[in-house]
This record gives sequence, C-alpha cells and structure tokens, in this order.
Amino acid sequence: MSESGLLESGLPGPAAPADREPPRLSFLGTGYLGTTYAACYAELGHQVIGLDVDPVKVAALAAGQLPFHEPGLAELVRRGLDSGRLRFTTDPAVAAAGADVHFLCVGTPQRPDGGADLGQVAAAVQAIAPHLHGRTLLVGKSTVPVGTAEWIERLLRKHVPDDADAEVAWCPEFLQEGHAVDDVLRPDRIVVGARGEWARRTLDRVHRGVHELAAREGREIPVLETDFATAELVKTAANAFLATKISFINAMAELCEAAGADVARLAEALGHDERIGPHFLRAGVGFGGGCLPKDIRALQSRAEQLGAGAAVRFLHEVDLINQRRRERVLQLAGELLDCVAGPAGPELTGTRIAVLGATFKPDSDDVRDAPALAVARLLHGAGAQVRVYDPLGGANARRSHPELGYAERLEQACAGADLVCVLTEWQEFREADPAALARLVNGRIVIDGRNCLDRGAWGAAGWTYRGLGWKEVA
Ligand code: UDX
Repeated sequence: MSESGLLESGLPGPAAPADREPPRLSFLGTGYLGTTYAACYAELGHQVIGLDVDPVKVAALAAGQLPFHEPGLAELVRRGLDSGRLRFTTDPAVAAAGADVHFLCVGTPQRPDGGADLGQVAAAVQAIAPHLHGRTLLVGKSTVPVGTAEWIERLLRKHVPDDADAEVAWCPEFLQEGHAVDDVLRPDRIVVGARGEWARRTLDRVHRGVHELAAREGREIPVLETDFATAELVKTAANAFLATKISFINAMAELCEAAGADVARLAEALGHDERIGPHFLRAGVGFGGGCLPKDIRALQSRAEQLGAGAAVRFLHEVDLINQRRRERVLQLAGELLDCVAGPAGPELTGTRIAVLGATFKPDSDDVRDAPALAVARLLHGAGAQVRVYDPLGGANARRSHPELGYAERLEQACAGADLVCVLTEWQEFREADPAALARLVNGRIVIDGRNCLDRGAWGAAGWTYRGLGWKEVA
C-alpha cells in the first residue's frame, strides 16, 4: 500500500518505547468514529495517525476535507493537520511505526441474518499485526458482539512477529452524531476492559488529557475497570436501553391515539420522575441511524448464540414497534387524504406529498436507516408523488434512493402539495412560518412525525395538524 495520505514525507522512526508521553496513537478506520477520535486526541496533544484502506478518503482527510458532516470536527481536523500532530495514511507499516497504542475503529455492519459482520475487524487486525514490534496495545472501540476481544487476542497472536508483545484492551465509545466532538473530549464515563496492569496504566496515560480538561472545567470523569466481556456489553446494552426507551414511548403513543390521550404531555409527566428522566422519550417516527437498529439486532443474534436468546427477546418487540411507526404515517396519510385503502394498504396515486427530512436525526447528513426516508419510500410505493427536502442530507438521500423526487428548498417541496410530512426535526422546519407555507400548498394538512411543531400556530394558520400519539386539531 502507498504512503500517499501522509502529510509529512518520510517514515517515522522505529517503534517507540511504549511509555512515551503522551502516547502516540493510531486509529484504524477513519470513518465517523476513527476520524472524530483522531482529531480530538491530536487536539489534546498526542501524535496521531489515522489509517484507512480507502485511498480517496485518506487523501481527502489529509487535505482537511471531511466525507461527512459533524459540527466542529472539520476545524479540529484542520488544526491537527496544521500542527503536524495529525496524519492520515493507507499504510499499516506507517501506523505501526508511528504509534504506541492502536485503536480499532472500523465498522461492524449488519449481516443479512442480523448478526454483526466482523470482516473489517479481522482485516484491520491482520493488516497491522505483522508490523507491530515490542510492547504495544491494541484497543477495541468498534461496537462488537461480546467475545470479540478474546477472538482478537487469538488473531493477533497468530499474526504478530516473534519480537512483538501486543496486548488487547477494550474501551467502548458512546458517540452521538451531531455531538461527537464533545462526547470524545467530555465523555460521561470511560470504560476500560483490560487483563493486566500495564494495559490499564497505558490507557490511563491515554486518557490523561480528557481528565485534565474535566478538572479544568470542575468535572470528574468516572472510570470503570472491567473484564473484556463487560466492556463489550456496556456499549450494546446502552444502545439497547436507549432503543427500548424510544420504543416504550412510541408504544404509549399508539395507546394514546387509541385512547384519545396526548403522548407529549404523558412523556413530560413521566420525565419529571427522577428514576425515569426526560431523555429519549420523544415519540415520533422512531429511531434510525447507523447504530441503534443494527446494534439491537446484533445483540439478539449474539444472545441466541450464547443460549441466552430469551433474555433479550423483548428487543424484537422494540424493533417491531419502531417499524410500525413508519407504517403509521402511511396509514395516517391515507386517512387524511381520504384515500381508499386497498388490500396492500392506502392507495395514494394522484396525491402530492412533501416529505420534510431525510436524515435519521437533525444536524447530520446521515441517511442510514433513516425513518424519514423509509416513510418517503412507503408513500412513493403507495403511488404518491413524493418530494423530499432535507437541509443537509439531500445528496446522500438521492444517492441511496434515486427513485424519489427531491427539492432544493423547503418551499419548493411544499409547493402544490396535498400533504406535508415533517419527519426529521430540523430547526428550519420547527421555525418555518405555517402561514407562509399555507399559501404554497394545495392542501393544508400536516403530519408532524416528530411532534416538533407548534400545534397551536399551525392550527391557527388553517392547517389540519396530526402529531403521532395525539388526536388531531382541525
Ligand atoms: C446512538 C447512541 O445515542 C450513541 O450513544 C451510540 O454511540 C451510537 O448510537 P446516534 O446514532 O448518533 O447515537 O443517535 P441518537 O441521538 O441516539 O438517536 C437515534 C435515533 O433515535 C434517531 O433517529 C433519533 O431521531 C431517535 N430518537 C431519539 C427518538 O426517536 N426519540 C428520542 O427521544 C430520542
């Protein structure tokens, strides 16, 4: 492989002593996770190398261009590059020689059977291992099925040269898109899954920067030392819990609709109970993205393998509730547009629908498993003429779903529409003027799939408003 992505010419020196201060770091995989960590740790003063197999991505990053949107990250990448502390390469030999601690940050996509595909993990370990010399630490960050760290230990042993003493540790990440820089620099907690004292001490040194930052800001970051299995499970358990919380409130939304209650008020009342808390109780079209949906499926698959499938069978229900929310919008569209329901659901031929939102959440350009796009496809499949508008995700949405219609502006999407569906809670939609939009549309009907609009204001502007989990205001 070439060294083309390196900013500085020439190979770094031979393998460094593992106790160099601050430790030099490499991040294997420069996707969303690896790039964010690499840039943040360069900012904290470490020498950092990002390694990736994709030369186009590496060249772009080395030129300071991010292949995705994340607030504040582009600036950190540019600062890291300018300082010389942050470099990108496609050459594992360069990463091995230039770092003492290597973080595994590659993707673990969903396999067709629901389990996690560990192909990228295996490839990254096998790529770096032959270049490791002396004492080094390989730290897992990717979200993986429990048991992966032990498997990586065996894989590593098979592929490292005789003079290498490479250890494995596990430090899960908890990044939220749109908030990732802060999540790295100011984590709620640090989980360290390690076998020995040396690995723990090395990770202490790696985390010194975030602890110092916390101390300057009058905070303290809890550090939890665990075994491998617990560290691996913390991440999937956290995501399963968040998904469950969202599906719980969405199940209550179904009930509220049937009973004539208001899920937003219900959630507010629940959230005041300290034991429950107000977060992740926003009812709507449900969760999507690159993590929650795939992680709950991978957890079920792994639990089955371990003979503990029954313990997480409720996650299947969590998934079903989530999928039902998408279909509910289609059903509502049919009802509101007075369309005849055929055997396969509402028949929407001849209707024009504006879909506002394509990303799985606002302030992101990520359309992976986005509920908004899934609903747009359902509406399109039922015969509606759909026009999607998203402030940032339009290009990605067009690439993944070219069959849908797209608009460049909110007004363009709404012009002549019989129905407007707000499916991602972008600020632009929350702050849109319902009176101005009312003049553009053909029918003043809005489905608020994120319960994010001012119902009163839309009602006052003449709209028939329908939230999810709440009966209409005509
Ligand atoms: C998630 C986890 O939060 C993070 O800790 C983990 O590291 C990766 O997965 P992310 O995928 O960025 O992060 O999205 P998140 O903010 O958790 O939202 C996930 C989905 O749930 C979005 O589609 C969002 O719209 C939806 N959601 C969230 C709700 O429908 N209701 C809520 O109350 C909260």
